[in-house]
Amino acid sequence: MKPNATIWIIGTYHNIHRIGKIMLDLGFWILNDIIWFKTNPMPNFLGVRFTNATETLLWAVKDKKIKKYTFNKEIARSFNGGKLGINVWQIPLCTGRERLRNEKKEKIHSTQKPQELLRRVILTSTKENDVIFDPMAGTGTTGFMAKKLNRKFVMIEKNKDYVDAIVKRFETEFNSLLFKT
Ligand SMILES: C[S@@+](CC[C@H](N)C(=O)[O-])C[C@H]1O[C@@H](n2cnc3c(N)ncnc32)[C@H](O)[C@@H]1O
Repeated sequence: MKPNATIWIIGTYHNIHRIGKIMLDLGFWILNDIIWFKTNPMPNFLGVRFTNATETLLWAVKDKKIKKYTFNKEIARSFNGGKLGINVWQIPLCTGRERLRNEKKEKIHSTQKPQELLRRVILTSTKENDVIFDPMAGTGTTGFMAKKLNRKFVMIEKNKDYVDAIVKRFETEFNSLLFKT
């Protein structure tokens, strides 16, 4: 990370608390925990606990001394129709035409993130032409939205099927090939 860069990490209650502890132990300073409230969550079919309708995004700088990070507060205030820019984002799960599917109409990736989620992350915490790094790219939503919003990006993904899906996604939307190693 560059000195004034910020980092976003998303997770569920299964992992985000552990990740938060590790980040704090490493000296990261958490600026916000954003609650992504899913308007269409997967029900808890067994009925043995509450339906989990949230994920948490931790937004952090490398240490507490860093003050010159990007925060586009006017954009943050435009979400949810409010004026405060609160840390709860109400966004549906990725469904419909946005969801990438194979020839058998099956979902290509189980946790493809909604474009709106990445739009908010990128618009609030980066400027045009900034470089965004996503080392766990999945279907490439981060790079996809970075390109749409005139940011640069680098992505890593270990699963070849997902990499192929990213390339196809870019060809379909932007008519452009990615440089892929
Ligand atoms: C939660 S998914 C990302 C979903 C993505 N944001 C999207 O919208 O599709 C995490 C991804 O990280 C990949 N991954 C896990 N460990 C990795 C590693 N060590 N290097 C590269 N990719 C990894 C997994 O294959 C998975 O696709």
